[in-house]
Amino acid sequence: MKINKNFDNLVPNYLFADVARKTAEYAAANPDKKIIRLGIGDVTLPLAPVVVEAMKKGAEELGHKETFKGYPEYEGYDFIREAISGYYKSFGVNVSADEIFVSDGAKSDCGNIGDIFSQDNTVLVTDPVYPVYVDSNIMAGRKIIYAACNEENGFTAMPDEDVKADIIYLCSPNNPTGAAFTYDQLKAWVDYANKNDAVILYDAAYEAFITDDLPRSIYAVEGARTCAIELCSLSKTAGFTGTRCGYTIIPKELERDGHNLYATWYRRQATKFNGVSYPVQCAAAAVFSEEGQRQIRDNIAYYQENARIIASALDELGIYYTGGKNSPYIWLKCPNGMGSWEFFDLLLKKANVVGTPGEGFGENGAGYFRLTSFGDRENTVEAVERIKKLLS
Ligand code: MLT
Repeated sequence: MKINKNFDNLVPNYLFADVARKTAEYAAANPDKKIIRLGIGDVTLPLAPVVVEAMKKGAEELGHKETFKGYPEYEGYDFIREAISGYYKSFGVNVSADEIFVSDGAKSDCGNIGDIFSQDNTVLVTDPVYPVYVDSNIMAGRKIIYAACNEENGFTAMPDEDVKADIIYLCSPNNPTGAAFTYDQLKAWVDYANKNDAVILYDAAYEAFITDDLPRSIYAVEGARTCAIELCSLSKTAGFTGTRCGYTIIPKELERDGHNLYATWYRRQATKFNGVSYPVQCAAAAVFSEEGQRQIRDNIAYYQENARIIASALDELGIYYTGGKNSPYIWLKCPNGMGSWEFFDLLLKKANVVGTPGEGFGENGAGYFRLTSFGDRENTVEAVERIKKLLS
């Protein structure tokens, strides 16, 4: 037998696994040190009470013959898809419930969606990039091209008419840079995709962090329904990193190569996915209730304040960064021309603070570094004090 040789083309380790290993090695050798982790974007606040109640109620229902449920619908229960549709309406975007697929998170779907596209397609990603877009397409053997994001373009790449891409991954607000597209910028990508017969895979996992007048969904832009699939997650919005729930939207009119993409994805899901558990779908639906929105907004505000604290320390130190506003990530330039792994080591060893080296997100991340605002307040403040002491 033979294994998929495309795996030989991957970097040896998944970025966050590498960061975790290096951190664990340092922690084991220095058990007396208090290490503060602002590396992987994992949340620290608990689920909102209304979410927990809904999950318990869902679990209880499964324990009684009258309310027991077996396999869920492949695309998710009506009640959650209606709730998501209502949420989009609340910020002026029309997405109907029957265009939504409930999933176990955006990470799985942004890799799995590749099943419906030919291996011959060229994939465009912005660089720096969330490694999952790249790795999952390397596994599938697709050609990947990169659109450079750098200080000159404010870490926001724009389409190039001379470049031909079939599948385009966009993430806004961006992971890792925190930069977010304006309506006009996103419209340029939508126009490019419609003109070039391409499909945009739009990762909106961080939309809940937007405070300025910026698009929270690609469907807020005219023309997106004929070229874009949107992926979203409750991980960062509502603390579901461990609970697992997200959704993917495919407008009914989206067609390519003589195929309807909604129908094609439905066919794929029916074959490979048996849905998200009932209690989790109940919990997720509660996020979109009025009380759920109030409670999760408090949590998001807490992380936004952490981001502000980190960003203002960088302002004081005179360090260039993007994000921090409209985003839980702060993407900073390593001081004194340091490389990103070099800065990672310095911060780990001298300040006992863990971040993510920009280089791990691509060539254009070299010399940059990502901090997250998902830590708890006390630790974030302490990390910032240590960083200021180290760098001033
Ligand atoms: C990150 O730190 O980039 C994210 O937590 C990764 C993810 O959402 O899978």
